[in-house]
Amino acid sequence: MKFFADTADVKEIRELNDLGLLDGVTTNPSLILKSGGSIAEVTKEICSIVAGPVSAEVVATEYDEMMREANILSKIADNVCIKVPLTLDGLRACKAIRSDGRMVNVTLCFSANQALLAAKAGASFISPFIGRLDDIGLDGMELIAEIRTIYDNYDFPTEILAASARTVNHVKQAAMIGSDVVTAPPATLKALVKHPLTDKGLEAFLADWAKTGQKIG
Ligand code: E4P
Repeated sequence: MKFFADTADVKEIRELNDLGLLDGVTTNPSLILKSGGSIAEVTKEICSIVAGPVSAEVVATEYDEMMREANILSKIADNVCIKVPLTLDGLRACKAIRSDGRMVNVTLCFSANQALLAAKAGASFISPFIGRLDDIGLDGMELIAEIRTIYDNYDFPTEILAASARTVNHVKQAAMIGSDVVTAPPATLKALVKHPLTDKGLEAFLADWAKTGQKIG
């Protein structure tokens, strides 16, 4: 399973990348706002840190303007993945951008039928938003499972990118279902390492080691 960081915070991205945990990054207009930087500068810096796909989102809602924005974003770096919304214009743009060999992440997916359309448009990634479905009392994981079944039925190469993942449990469940990628805030990715028995065990080993009076090397 690939790990993408859902952030435009360059410091956090650098830290995760140094840990060797990062396969890519997803940003969106809200995350760019939070970063305080311009989309061009922030995306360029992220692309220089991470070798994998870095999603940058178009904000136009009409096909021609989406394509214009996509062309500008594509020029930032080779690993920019153009993010388009799951609308008819977005799907049309997806097909056109993919025909040039560029990566596309179709975002704001909330149903299996939407994911089916994105696969037919040749999307590189489909982003079902787990957390936002949970927020309204639905089951985000059920959607990931439905998409997995549909994509496997037809061997669609589109990768399932479980998005809006906010908890370590979201990450585990998405991995168990077979999501290809999960994107989560850096704090959630780092929290995957935590277990009280690991901390307790390490503390006991270090205490016993101190009693031996030895040093390694
Ligand atoms: C995905 O690409 C989105 O940026 C993101 O996962 C949205 O998450 P949120 O619902 O926590 O805002």
